[in-house]
Amino acid sequence: MDKYTDADKHKSMAELSDTQIQDFENDGVLVIPEFFTTDECDSVQNRMTELLSQYRPQEKETVFSTTDNTHTQEDYFLTSGDKIRFFFEDSEVVDKSRPLELTLNKVGHALHDLDPVFSNFVRQPKLAKLASDVGFLSPLLLQSMYIFKPPKIGGEVVWHTDHPFLWTDPPSVKGLWVALEDATIENGCLWCLPGLHKEQPRQRFRRNSSGGTEMITLNPDPFPTERKVPVEAKKGTLVVLDGLLPHWSGPNTSSRSRHAFTLHLIEESAEYPKDNWLQRSDDMPLRGFETQIVD
Ligand code: FE2
Repeated sequence: MDKYTDADKHKSMAELSDTQIQDFENDGVLVIPEFFTTDECDSVQNRMTELLSQYRPQEKETVFSTTDNTHTQEDYFLTSGDKIRFFFEDSEVVDKSRPLELTLNKVGHALHDLDPVFSNFVRQPKLAKLASDVGFLSPLLLQSMYIFKPPKIGGEVVWHTDHPFLWTDPPSVKGLWVALEDATIENGCLWCLPGLHKEQPRQRFRRNSSGGTEMITLNPDPFPTERKVPVEAKKGTLVVLDGLLPHWSGPNTSSRSRHAFTLHLIEESAEYPKDNWLQRSDDMPLRGFETQIVD
């Protein structure tokens, strides 16, 4: 499995080769080094620095934790699908006197539609071509996140697949994960279970009648995580993840941050349920790769 541990073996290509497309179909994951230039990565990192400088503290700040899940019942999270909102690492480990980038877990979930720099970053022909190459006919840009994974306190993201959170019928979500900084085992890179994307979904995360959310278990069997392989990725690497591929990342115990940006795509023709957690207001419909925001 050294194709995941030695990403340098992959060449960057404007167009995916047949082998890459076949690898993605077989494994559910594809690693493409140097998909983005250093300048492109720097531009979104610098833009995030600007956004953080404009951040005004909330009355109650929301923690994002996949081991705790309190956030999943909070309005600030549940109404963030068409906004730019800020989520913190676990409050017990956060020192609020530190700079924001050292205390935040992530910013989400509509950077790509509300901010011109992020919109231009994702609405590039090479990304639209890639979406087509991995099977999309008419992709919609559903969700984006800027992930900080700060040094020492960046939390674990537990084993999951993305489809249960961004459910469509038929399943269509795919994740595009961009290393904005080098991601290594030490600072909490992705790990995955290649080939497991061919199994049926084991969970469904949805809104419930009491105004919160719930996780429905469809299959209680745990993932065979002993088979996990690391996806180390140098800055500029794009990792494509099938929506049914189990993935995980450990806590960042190193002294280096691990910034990443993710974009999730769904197929326009697939049904998007009204009880998915992520909903848009009527005046901000989902869009594809075509429309740029003019700054
Ligand atoms: Fe994920």
